[in-house]
Amino acid sequence: MRFIETWIPATLVSTRDLAPGIREFLIRPDQFDAAAYPVGSHINVSVTIDGLPETRSYSLVGEAISTGFKIAVRRADDSRGGSRYMWQLAPGARLDITQPASLLAVDWSRENYCLIAGGIGITPILGAAQALARRGADVTLHYAVRSRGEAAYLDDLAGILGDRLVVHASDEGKRLDLDAVFASLPQGTLSLFCGPMRMLDAARHAWIGAGHPLPDLRYETFGSSGTLPTETFRVRLKGSDVELEIPRERSMLDVLNASGHDVMYDCKRGECGLCAIDVVEVDGEIDHRDVFFSDHQKQSNQKICACVSRARGTITVDTLLRADAI
Ligand code: FES
Repeated sequence: MRFIETWIPATLVSTRDLAPGIREFLIRPDQFDAAAYPVGSHINVSVTIDGLPETRSYSLVGEAISTGFKIAVRRADDSRGGSRYMWQLAPGARLDITQPASLLAVDWSRENYCLIAGGIGITPILGAAQALARRGADVTLHYAVRSRGEAAYLDDLAGILGDRLVVHASDEGKRLDLDAVFASLPQGTLSLFCGPMRMLDAARHAWIGAGHPLPDLRYETFGSSGTLPTETFRVRLKGSDVELEIPRERSMLDVLNASGHDVMYDCKRGECGLCAIDVVEVDGEIDHRDVFFSDHQKQSNQKICACVSRARGTITVDTLLRADAI
């Protein structure tokens, strides 16, 4: 059950390989006005996985352009199937997408900005770099990658930011030291982060450790980046003998809703918390992949964001749907 989700038909105009395993897609809606969209916007794309319709959410790359929406997709062997679907598309393919939406609030009145991107997390950060550079803001981007050869958009970023782009390539022995970076920032700096979940956890701790207020660290992450491998797990429904299998390529939210358990949702990115359901018992381990709950809430394992979080083993949940209430 989603509140508002308007799908529009679109065409894949072209693809471009940016780096090994990273491909850019230019998608043009049939009715396209090239209107500006907020920094950090994403679109949902309707994909087909094992014959079933699914939704995947991708950040828009850069600010609005006249030719369509640009996204970049990393081919992830550990993914739930979305990247495999996208990578087999050829120009001319028809797609259903949603209009851009953003949950990342940017306060443009700060004096200093720090951008942090890990790997494919550069996609929403590129637009932020463009917008801040255009405003003449004091901004530095720290871009953590395995190697420069695997880093997407390096030339574009160098053109936008010059020496305010700092590349931390681990194969050059230059790992990103978040503690040192955040400790060097003046108070009042706004930081925008996008990277995998482990890196976000490190960023949150480093940010707080450096004495900055947590609301000044704005972040996005990818729903596919957990701490456990993506694997099949089982969900038992409290007060019933229903037990569902959540295959690696589907979310718990989709399986619950497909089997008639009306779980509300909105972002499907682990950001809004609307899909959170009560956890009654854990026989295994929960892999919280959302950015909605605090560390403390995640440790307590009392709730799970069904859209992105996963588990190992079997968990028992209470969806609050009662058969006698239908
Ligand atoms: S739908 Fe927003 S966190 Fe799950």
